[in-house]
Amino acid sequence: MKLLLLGKGGQVGWELQRSLAPLGELVALDFDSTDFSADFGRPEQLAETVLKVRPDVIVNAAAHTAVDKAESEPDFARKLNATSPGVVAQAAGQIGALMVHYSTDYVFDGSGSKPWHEDDATGPLSVYGRTKLEGEQLVAKHCAKHLIFRTSWVFAARGGNFAKTMLRLAKERDKLTVIDDQFGAPTGAELLADITAHAIRATLQDPAKAGLYHAVASGVTTWHGYARFVIEQARQAGVELKAGPEQVEAVPTSAFPTPATRPANSRLDTRKLQSAFGLVLPPWQQGVARMLRETL
Ligand SMILES: NC(=O)c1ccc[n+]([C@@H]2O[C@H](COP(=O)([O-])OP(=O)(O)OC[C@H]3O[C@@H](n4cnc5c(N)ncnc54)[C@H](OP(=O)(O)O)[C@@H]3O)[C@@H](O)[C@H]2O)c1
Repeated sequence: MKLLLLGKGGQVGWELQRSLAPLGELVALDFDSTDFSADFGRPEQLAETVLKVRPDVIVNAAAHTAVDKAESEPDFARKLNATSPGVVAQAAGQIGALMVHYSTDYVFDGSGSKPWHEDDATGPLSVYGRTKLEGEQLVAKHCAKHLIFRTSWVFAARGGNFAKTMLRLAKERDKLTVIDDQFGAPTGAELLADITAHAIRATLQDPAKAGLYHAVASGVTTWHGYARFVIEQARQAGVELKAGPEQVEAVPTSAFPTPATRPANSRLDTRKLQSAFGLVLPPWQQGVARMLRETL
């Protein structure tokens, strides 16, 4: 089996290089790869890459993920999040490949407090959310054999992340202020990559499993709860801190105005994923604690 991974250097892409490797021959590309073009800023070249590589499975981890920046460059965000995935999906459909794509909780308007189901009405509040929604629609339209995973609050040990920022601030400051009115589940890139590998195998065996799934760690927290957990873990590990969990003050979203509006309710219902693939999703704390043990 041959697999083509696009966006290999991102949080999820990096972990996919590991989790996809045992499935077959893996061609992993980034926007500056030289063997084949995988620049999502040049959609016209992506079809050529897919047709040349002729993979059985394409996994797209490339995206414009700078949520606030997307507000000031909507055309570029649309190219990366919608047009290019659509082009890849068209080529995937042409060669009969399975296409895996990632989307986001930001396709929802964040109202209410119930976890969102895959069939619930969407209502993105930002350019990022709108372009990601268009991307998932184009992938589904052009490639019937697809897996689209909507996820949230992704973190990885590699590169910067919210947890590392909170740790740095807790070392520098006596007090932190963190938003406590957005609800979601921090989800590890490792977990997503493992879910992806498992789901690919299952879907190749049973194509009826193709479709849209919510894929996040279990449980729910706020950014405030997440920050407190991270700082408590660091304290237990003996890290010297100026601010402990008690010094993390809860504030509303309005205290930190940003160009892009974020949904307040990012809870995602994962029952469809768990029953289709026989998976159990671990609590978010497990992945965060593991990432901290690797980075502290
Ligand atoms: N991060 C989150 O919290 C989150 C939440 C929900 C859903 N998701 C979705 O999950 C998926 C993976 O996200 P992630 O967190 O792994 O994002 P990420 O770390 O930002 O990775 C995105 C990847 O896309 C690449 N990329 C940027 N511009 C490109 C271009 N012009 N052509 C080709 N590749 C380009 C990046 O390369 P460089 O690093 O070199 O720029 C990077 O490798 C995305 O679909 C994202 O929308 C993420």
